[in-house]
Amino acid sequence: MCGIVGYTGFQDAYDIVINGLRRLEYRGYDSAGIVLEDGNNKLEVEKTKGKVEDLVNISSQLKGKAKIGMGHTRWATHGVPSDRNSHPHLSNNGKLAIIHNGIIENYDTIKTMLTGKGFTFKSETDTEVLVNLIQYFMDLNAETDFPTAVRYALNEVYGAYAITVMHEDYPGVLVVGRLGSPLAIGIGDKEYFIASDASPFVEFTKEAIYLEEGHMATISLENGVDIRTITENSKIIPEIQKLKLSLEQIEKSGYEHFMLKEIFEQPKSVHDTMRGRLLVEEGVIKMAGIWDHIERFKNANRIIIIACGTSWHAGLIGEYLIEEYARIPVEVEYASEFRYRNPIITDKDVVIAISQSGETADTMAALKLAKEKGAFIYGICNVVDSSIARITDAGSYTHAGPEIGVASTKAFTAQLTILSLIALKLGKHNGNLGNADFMSLIAELDAIPKKIEDVLSSTHELVQNIAKDFVNATNFLYLGRGYNYPAALEGALKLKEISYIHAEGYPAAEMKHGPIALIDENMPIVIIAPKKGHYDKIVSNVQEIKARKGKVIAVVNNGDTQVSEMSDYVIEIPETSECFSPIVASVPLQLLAYYIAVYRGANVDQPRNLAKSVTVE
Ligand code: M6R
Repeated sequence: MCGIVGYTGFQDAYDIVINGLRRLEYRGYDSAGIVLEDGNNKLEVEKTKGKVEDLVNISSQLKGKAKIGMGHTRWATHGVPSDRNSHPHLSNNGKLAIIHNGIIENYDTIKTMLTGKGFTFKSETDTEVLVNLIQYFMDLNAETDFPTAVRYALNEVYGAYAITVMHEDYPGVLVVGRLGSPLAIGIGDKEYFIASDASPFVEFTKEAIYLEEGHMATISLENGVDIRTITENSKIIPEIQKLKLSLEQIEKSGYEHFMLKEIFEQPKSVHDTMRGRLLVEEGVIKMAGIWDHIERFKNANRIIIIACGTSWHAGLIGEYLIEEYARIPVEVEYASEFRYRNPIITDKDVVIAISQSGETADTMAALKLAKEKGAFIYGICNVVDSSIARITDAGSYTHAGPEIGVASTKAFTAQLTILSLIALKLGKHNGNLGNADFMSLIAELDAIPKKIEDVLSSTHELVQNIAKDFVNATNFLYLGRGYNYPAALEGALKLKEISYIHAEGYPAAEMKHGPIALIDENMPIVIIAPKKGHYDKIVSNVQEIKARKGKVIAVVNNGDTQVSEMSDYVIEIPETSECFSPIVASVPLQLLAYYIAVYRGANVDQPRNLAKSVTVE
């Protein structure tokens, strides 16, 4: 999604903005732009379709010229990716510049009104409408100052936005506003930073304000940060947060891509997710978020898990875990469908939202609906203080650390870890999971980070060799049963999103009800076949595939013989309990997708058309 960077202070604004945009590249974008106030109260804009480096090629003359400026990476919604549609957009009088993340849903009505007043538009964007609406309010009454005009305009629009606006007659001033899309304000010593997340300014300051929903701020060196509500103009005293993010966490540390770095971080990220929660020696799972609301969970009619994409796959595994160990009915819903199908929700329901970014608009909207209906809302997010984390009644962070690659890897295994902890904790508490089983499961879970480490070292080279043989594949099938059916879905999603090879995940037994028609000697089939979990049935499925000459890539346990003998390629992973096997099995599938994509020359960290946090519905 779009990325926003702004700066006012004593350093070269060009460098800060450009480097900030580079840090936000992971979010996914198709064009980039910058505006600076050149010291003579004149706004200078450069923007282009393409990458931040394309912007640098056309804008380096701006270097050293300004101490205030802002930049943007755009992920197209209204209007194709083009120079014209790129941000910043200027108002008709050229005095105001705006950058925007989100969608102004009523832009068409406002555009018609402004056109009637003589305004003209150079782009197809909703954003250009908003900046002209601000000008309109300033033109209407000479007494209306810049921040007030922004506030008036924001009161007229609906939709989702994070905006930053500059006015050439207000040197050193940035006005920002937020509804639905995140915005952070970094507070330095005689300097301020604006960004979609803290990564662009983490090396300059560890203090930040996360602007709340429906708030705006006027930021200047003279008067600091003045925060108001958009509707009432009521003054807000902000909470200044201490950032835990470090520069090292958001750099590649010698890896070729963030995705590879994040795959290799999984022994640590899974361990960090369990740290302080899973206390094997004491035989307990400590999770304040669950424990403080244990009666809500215990008395829940059902648990509804809502999520999108990879997080939805984690939710499916969560369903298996919670139903098996806690015997509470679970439904898993795509957030985007849940909201629009008039679901039955009562105050006896517990809704668990899973989101790496904590900013996914579909998940957020579904949560708001469930909250309105009185359900208890629990969040599983990776990004601390994200929008979803803030609106939930309680929750658990995954502690996977920043995930920059668009393809989710370590966040997924961290989500599975949290869901395992929740299921075991609930099961133990409500008596469905006996002490001996509980003790053996927590010991097994505790051993997972080491097993991931072993998989990474034993399969890394092997998977690279397998990947070379499938660079030109056009289709892939991923099959699994039980807990590993969602793992198959996730394996297929990883491959398609970064390599652009069509891939489908299926429950292995369903193959005979349709996909079997696709199988011939050209069809690669990844099959997840650990010993624990319907192994005999999987053996039959592999036989059915081989009878049709499909190419089998099997993920099996160390020392496996039966499936291995029938398979064309074998990837061995250590044995674990069936319920935790997706955590371990997912790792070689992530590597397989990664290397196939790398060998096809794809942009692994920023795959086409995709965004890291999808903040539009
Ligand atoms: O941040 P979220 O977990 O809410 O994001 C949900 C999906 O957009 C995300 O998982 C997406 O499917 C990833 N690109 C998967 O790799």
